[in-house]
Amino acid sequence: MSLAVALSLSTSHIVHEKRSVSHPHKRRRVNSDAIIPVRIGLRQSNLHTGYDRLIEVSHPGSVNYGKHLSREEVHSLFAPADETIEIVKNWLLRSNLIQEHDITHYENKGWLAVDMPAKRAETLFGTKYYEHETKNGELRIGCDQYHLPRHISEHVDFVKPGVKLSAPLKKREIEKRSSDRSSPGVFPRHLNIKPLHYPGWRPPFGAGGLPLDLQNCGVNITPTCIKALYDIPAACHHEPKNSMGLFETFDAFSQEDVSLFLEKFAKHVPSNTAPKVISVDGGTAPVEPGDDRNGGESNIDIDLAISLIYPQSIIVYQVDDLPIASGQTNTSGFINTFLDSIDGSYCDYTAFGITGDSPGIDGSYPNPLPGGFIDSRQCGTYELTRVLSISYGETEIELPKPYVERQCNEIMKLGLQGHTILTSSGDFGVAGFPGEDGDERGCLSAGRSNGTIYNPDYPSGCPYITSVGATRLYPHQTVKDPESAMQVDIAAFNLATGDGPTDPALQFFATGGGFSNYFCPPSYQAQEVSCYLKKELPFQSLPYYEINADATNIGQNGGVYNRLGRGYPDVSANGAFFLTFLNLTERNFFGTSLAAPIFGSVVTLINEERSLIGKGPVGFINPALYRSKKYPLNTYEMALLTRIDPSVLNDITNGSNPNCGSQGFQASKGWDPVTGLGTPNYPKMLTYFLSLP
Ligand SMILES: *[C@@H]1O[C@H](CO)[C@@H](O)[C@H](O)[C@H]1NC(C)=O
Ligand SMILES: *[C@@H]1O[C@H](CO)[C@@H](O)[C@H](O)[C@H]1NC(C)=O
Ligand SMILES: *[C@@H]1O[C@H](CO)[C@@H](O)[C@H](O)[C@H]1NC(C)=O
Ligand SMILES: *[C@@H]1O[C@H](CO)[C@@H](O)[C@H](O)[C@H]1NC(C)=O
Repeated sequence: MSLAVALSLSTSHIVHEKRSVSHPHKRRRVNSDAIIPVRIGLRQSNLHTGYDRLIEVSHPGSVNYGKHLSREEVHSLFAPADETIEIVKNWLLRSNLIQEHDITHYENKGWLAVDMPAKRAETLFGTKYYEHETKNGELRIGCDQYHLPRHISEHVDFVKPGVKLSAPLKKREIEKRSSDRSSPGVFPRHLNIKPLHYPGWRPPFGAGGLPLDLQNCGVNITPTCIKALYDIPAACHHEPKNSMGLFETFDAFSQEDVSLFLEKFAKHVPSNTAPKVISVDGGTAPVEPGDDRNGGESNIDIDLAISLIYPQSIIVYQVDDLPIASGQTNTSGFINTFLDSIDGSYCDYTAFGITGDSPGIDGSYPNPLPGGFIDSRQCGTYELTRVLSISYGETEIELPKPYVERQCNEIMKLGLQGHTILTSSGDFGVAGFPGEDGDERGCLSAGRSNGTIYNPDYPSGCPYITSVGATRLYPHQTVKDPESAMQVDIAAFNLATGDGPTDPALQFFATGGGFSNYFCPPSYQAQEVSCYLKKELPFQSLPYYEINADATNIGQNGGVYNRLGRGYPDVSANGAFFLTFLNLTERNFFGTSLAAPIFGSVVTLINEERSLIGKGPVGFINPALYRSKKYPLNTYEMALLTRIDPSVLNDITNGSNPNCGSQGFQASKGWDPVTGLGTPNYPKMLTYFLSLP
């Protein structure tokens, strides 16, 4: 590696960042007069304390439980100190290479931006800039190492372009890409088949004592079945601040389908009841029943939420314009533009070495493609609801670790402000979607054959999100029986119903669960995870690995799962046999897509009851549900906790989530990476959360 120290540097300068491996691209020196966009990421204060602050407002043993912060408080908590900004700015000005008006200081205080000729930047940072040409013909600028004065180095996170290359500057040639890719690697979490009609099927023995509308729940789940399973009462409140949010992208609901569902299965709701739609960066809904975008995801989310929380209202955040949402732009990130729209400070926020959205991963606006959103990206345009359910996901490995960390950090900030963000945990057991990551089964592999390494889910791995797995009843069971982990042999159902093969052919459908490769177990679940890993269960015979800091040793020594990861899901709810309408036709739906809105509805109902007695929302709910004993409890808290049954969830102990050629994990007593802590026991959850401050 060439030493690129410029000659004018004094001994007070130190190497701030240095590349350890060289870039594989062709490169040449940048023309010295070329203007390059320099971004100086300032060191954020308190980034490392975010988790503790979140626990402080979310753990029932903490005296500050429920004392959520305002948006402004969160921003100033994590903004670099004013001192940091001044020191770095003064250094730039004193260099005599830059004028005050050249410096742009972004709204969230995270970074300083200066466009300057390459030769000045080279002097300032004691470096040599190169342009790299990637395989796609993109030009990116970077250097091998750069310097900062010692007293500045401690205030700066990183400089771009630096050892990380700049965003692509211009393309040599505009590549024509086919626009018929159906999906950017982001998958709704469900599958639907014709309703089941078992030949000669009879209500299970013992169902005789149940009302007629509960006799069929083992094969056809309705809102009445769900309410009976979890003891959820008829809803009656409708305070606007508790309106429930649903994240949707590409897929869009059809009001005709929703109305048919309400007419048939939720007669207490006027059949013309519709969600409010918020269009984020050009997203549109609803669509006609026969539209390609009516794939059922939005329909089922809305059907479940409305039928469980009406007269409370629903807000659909329909995210991204059609070219981006449909995968035409090949962008695999799907949450950042949404987060930008509900928190303007996130748009240009710097953390984990990344500032703002990531080109190539996130969609960008204005979008010149036909049908694209022609305005600038929406930043801080909308309010986020107290509860948000996301029934979309992909595999964690599709996205770089720092990207996921930065985004997860934003979800932490939303938790600090009292929002509950829920996500479905995936539908293929320990694997991703079939075909994902170039593998037939959606597994990971060291070589090219069918992968055997488990492929954890995103965004379930983020420890600040509530990941929801799915459960089911077997046909011979009733709502009085304990549920099992959701696992379905779709091929067998196809035979039973005469339905054609699904596309892609899915034989195997099981609730998603496992251990993240990017995040460690957060303190609130550390005890549960370590307890699970000691159990004598079949998964113990699987080889495993221990992930390193950069997550570069996945599958090391033949291991199939990471034993040092955050475990998911956290909780679960029914995700099988849901009967509803798609394109005006009755269908049975399966998937964790059903479970997330059910759990989100339960949290919404609890927030409503808390509002009624003057209490705030439950916010980030995991620490309260795991109720780890991190904080010493005072006598009052002890009395409170012992008065209440320790479990406010129905523990699910039967079933597993196999895939990738092995047995996966097994459900067991207590938390497990199959069904989490279990399904809602609404009366117990309500008593518990009403008793918290
Ligand atoms: C919706 O149903 C109509 C009538 O059965 C059919 O022609 C159309 O292809 C369907 N649309 C989709 C997207 O399946
Ligand atoms: C588009 O996506 C495919 C599949 O994920 C990937 O192989 C390809 O490299 C991407 N193309 C570009 C130009 O990013
Ligand atoms: C991968 O698995 C499929 C079925 O699961 C099988 O048909 C195929 O032969 C396998 N491929 C390899 C390379 O083992
Ligand atoms: C437990 O799960 C298995 C599938 O893993 C299923 O066959 C069985 O019926 C379930 N038992 C009960 C009691 O639900």
